[in-house]
Amino acid sequence: MRSRRLDWCTRWVRRLDDRQLSEAGYGRMIRALNEVHYAGETGFYGTASLRPCEERLFERYGRHGRILDAGCGAGRVTRAVAARGGDIVGIDINGAAIAAARIAAPGVEFVHTSMAQMPFRAEEFTNVWCLRFSFNALPTYQERLNTLRELWRVCAPGGVVLVEAFNWYHRGRLGLVRAANLLDHLARMLHRHGGGRSSPLPRRDILYLANKTEGAAPGYAHLTTASELLRLVTAAGISGNATVTSEEALLDCTRTPVRPRHGRYSMWLVLNKTGDP
Ligand SMILES: C[S@@+](CC[C@H](N)C(=O)[O-])C[C@H]1O[C@@H](n2cnc3c(N)ncnc32)[C@H](O)[C@@H]1O
Repeated sequence: MRSRRLDWCTRWVRRLDDRQLSEAGYGRMIRALNEVHYAGETGFYGTASLRPCEERLFERYGRHGRILDAGCGAGRVTRAVAARGGDIVGIDINGAAIAAARIAAPGVEFVHTSMAQMPFRAEEFTNVWCLRFSFNALPTYQERLNTLRELWRVCAPGGVVLVEAFNWYHRGRLGLVRAANLLDHLARMLHRHGGGRSSPLPRRDILYLANKTEGAAPGYAHLTTASELLRLVTAAGISGNATVTSEEALLDCTRTPVRPRHGRYSMWLVLNKTGDP
């Protein structure tokens, strides 16, 4: 009886999957949402200061060499690091964010581009940072893969790529957002089953109400797991030592790997580029 019910569910979900949006179409839709969401949040990202972990990150990893701040928004980190004497370049896909960053920090280099395809030479940066969940804003598997390849390509031998990512298994506020989205997912599945046209969101994707600036459009995030990040690294053909670690372990330089289903708010993917060919 149980297995017949399971078969029925599997067949049903497969039928729904067949009717989902194409990956490219979904990517376009979320990029358009991101465009208005992050344009509405420039007030926050243009004025907020460094988090304590970022102050320490700069001291541990950023004092020497050139830093790329990928997905810099309105330049929160870029501006503060440059003011501390760091050599840093900020890039973002959002034109409004880059315009705000240039006004806030006129002497700092900002480039309006996607981190999935960057206009830099290979090995230009010693520290490649993708901080505060910019990676979670990437809507498709292909874009996440291309981005990891690009972050790795522009990192110099002996350098390090750091990607900070939201955790799917976090049980705090994100857990609540996740639960709300799972209910939404179920409602859409039922709606589609009845002939409606609204697709469920892909796995581990969430939509949330903007919480940094009043009146900004809703935001999107793809919540990751530690295993997913490591699988992406392998699929991207990255040959360096990859670890997914916690904020504390990153900052005390032990880089102890997190458990696959840890409950922390965030995690850090660390890619070490050795000097070996
Ligand atoms: C949560 S904000 C973080 C901003 C900044 N890293 C900080 O810590 O203040 C995410 C940023 O990622 C940017 N982003 C999203 N997709 C991107 C892409 N493909 N290339 C570059 N930036 C992107 C968004 O435009 C947004 O400014």
